[in-house]
Amino acid sequence: MRRVRHFLPLVASCIAGCSGPQTPLSPAADQAGHVFGLFNLMLWVCGLFYAAVLVFLGVAIWRARRVQRAASHQTLKVGFGVWAVAITLGLIVLTTASFLVDRSLAQGRAHETLVVRVTAQQWWWRVQYRTPDGGWIETANELHLPAGATARIEVVAADVVHSFWIPNLAGKMDVIPGRTNIVDITPRRLGWVRGQCAEFCGLQHAHMALDVDVQTPTEFASWLARQAAPSAPSIVDPVLLRGQSVVTGDACGRCHTVRGTPAAGRPGPDLTHVGARRSVAAGTLPMSRAALQGWIAQPQALKPGAMMPAAPLSGPDANAVALYLESLR
Ligand code: CUA
Repeated sequence: MRRVRHFLPLVASCIAGCSGPQTPLSPAADQAGHVFGLFNLMLWVCGLFYAAVLVFLGVAIWRARRVQRAASHQTLKVGFGVWAVAITLGLIVLTTASFLVDRSLAQGRAHETLVVRVTAQQWWWRVQYRTPDGGWIETANELHLPAGATARIEVVAADVVHSFWIPNLAGKMDVIPGRTNIVDITPRRLGWVRGQCAEFCGLQHAHMALDVDVQTPTEFASWLARQAAPSAPSIVDPVLLRGQSVVTGDACGRCHTVRGTPAAGRPGPDLTHVGARRSVAAGTLPMSRAALQGWIAQPQALKPGAMMPAAPLSGPDANAVALYLESLR
């Protein structure tokens, strides 16, 4: 019983790995489904061969102990022949299957209805949606996709090599400076999943997550319309006004954009609707006023090495800024 108890955490972690918001074993899109099918096939074929090798090994050891006489040349010849044919067949099955999966992944290209450009930066994601007139609607660290439609995700890097990976939706794609790589995603299951940079890209590589929401087409359309709109034009609350004047001033506005205000900085994430997002600092903290305030006060404590400097704000200013950012929905 004690032995069994030692294995329980291992078994639990193995089972827990099969579902959840960040696993390729619970596909929520066509592309991840194709890859999952190939993974299963490879697991079974290779598992069977592995089991066969172990069985033959066991028989050989058993025979060496019990039977003095060696196997005849004829038996060995037949054995090797059968084994060579089995391996060749196995390899043909796996090669054909991976070719077919590759084809099916490429087929998405013909059905793309939405273009999204995702720019990887140290250490966050700039997310832009192509509009019919050729412009872009920008947000950050959050990707929304309509279920049932194929989105063409163009991944580009702003600085170093990253890797774009939303395990539940599609396979990994390297993000390389000077190149545009394309990932097609046709989501099927509604709800949140999590993406993560999958290539070491510096100190805060682990804090480079992407919240992904698969919505119904109607929900998605209204989300996108909200993102396209500038921030609320008229504010009357004096605390919010104070927050707005700090954010749109030099302290924040040089690096961040809040559409509808003078803040138009490009280096950092667009904050126009930051209050509606799910997390702060690319998945580092769940969104809340306290998280915003903590992040602004001590970004280097939460994400050492990040480009964001600590803003030297007075207590009332810091409070007003957090309230204002939270109101940007
Ligand atoms: Cu970006 Cu790791």
